[in-house]
Amino acid sequence: MITDKGLRMPKLGLGTWPMMGEECTKAVIGALELGYRHIDTAAKYENETAVGEAIANSPIKRAEYHVTSKVWLDKLAPDSMHRSFEQSLRDLRTDYVDLFLIHWPSPDMDLAASLAKLVSFQEQGLARNIGVSNFPLSLFRRTVEEIEAPIANHQIEYHVLFDQSPVINFARKHGISITAYCPLARGRLIGNPTLDAIGAKHGASGAQVALKWLLDQDSVAAIPKASRVESQTANFAAQTLMLDDEDRAAIAALPKDQRFDNPAWAPDWDA
Ligand SMILES: NC(=O)c1ccc[n+]([C@@H]2O[C@H](COP(=O)([O-])OP(=O)(O)OC[C@H]3O[C@@H](n4cnc5c(N)ncnc54)[C@H](OP(=O)(O)O)[C@@H]3O)[C@@H](O)[C@H]2O)c1
Repeated sequence: MITDKGLRMPKLGLGTWPMMGEECTKAVIGALELGYRHIDTAAKYENETAVGEAIANSPIKRAEYHVTSKVWLDKLAPDSMHRSFEQSLRDLRTDYVDLFLIHWPSPDMDLAASLAKLVSFQEQGLARNIGVSNFPLSLFRRTVEEIEAPIANHQIEYHVLFDQSPVINFARKHGISITAYCPLARGRLIGNPTLDAIGAKHGASGAQVALKWLLDQDSVAAIPKASRVESQTANFAAQTLMLDDEDRAAIAALPKDQRFDNPAWAPDWDA
């Protein structure tokens, strides 16, 4: 469980992109039945209605699990953000989200105004906590140290092939948790010989090793997307795997410069 800054968020969540419609509803209902208590969605995924269908039909009470959603980068002006957030709540069929994030920064955003709007959602109890996603270190620093926005979480690409220490160290210094997206490098970690060898030692898969490496880190959550029940079950079971120092040393020796989510709208990561 992540407990920084008032957030109480299970470390393992279910990523829902790019699932849509019935596939998404079934995956979320199934995951809740398996024991997942953290679901990650976003307005841009166009699956909030499907997640809402799961929320409405799951036997698990809404208060028992965490939902994160996000506002897209062309809706960061306060009025647009308000409309987008209200639509998210309607589509999700919930009175509140546990965490609401700015999905990506935009070059023409008024950062202070957008963050003030996020804070207002929190003050109204409509977003229990707020945060950002995909902020390069300079923008993250401005958000926290200059604007002093009370953000609780930063969602970033993070996995065994990609070092994010500068952002993570800064977040830790300020008591802000990290959510690792693409924790399986979009599936590219499946079949990785180093991870598979570590897994074989423990009777586990390489994917489970990659997830447990993240979940073992303080204040780091991971949201693997899994549509298949086998994958959901395996990822949930990864929580009980015990990695040792030799395993961590082998993972530390993997290349760490492989960013896989770098779309046209991505910011200058080194800014
Ligand atoms: N904030 C952002 O900008 C941002 C960007 C990207 C993603 N995200 C969030 O992060 C979530 C996860 O990222 P992602 O979907 O890009 O990549 P990912 O979780 O690293 O990888 C997903 C892929 O791994 C496969 N998989 C999952 N568990 C497996 C297992 N145990 N064994 C074998 N294969 C397995 C899935 O297949 P099956 O589905 O077939 O099981 C799927 O093809 C997204 O769903 C989304 O919620 C956020």
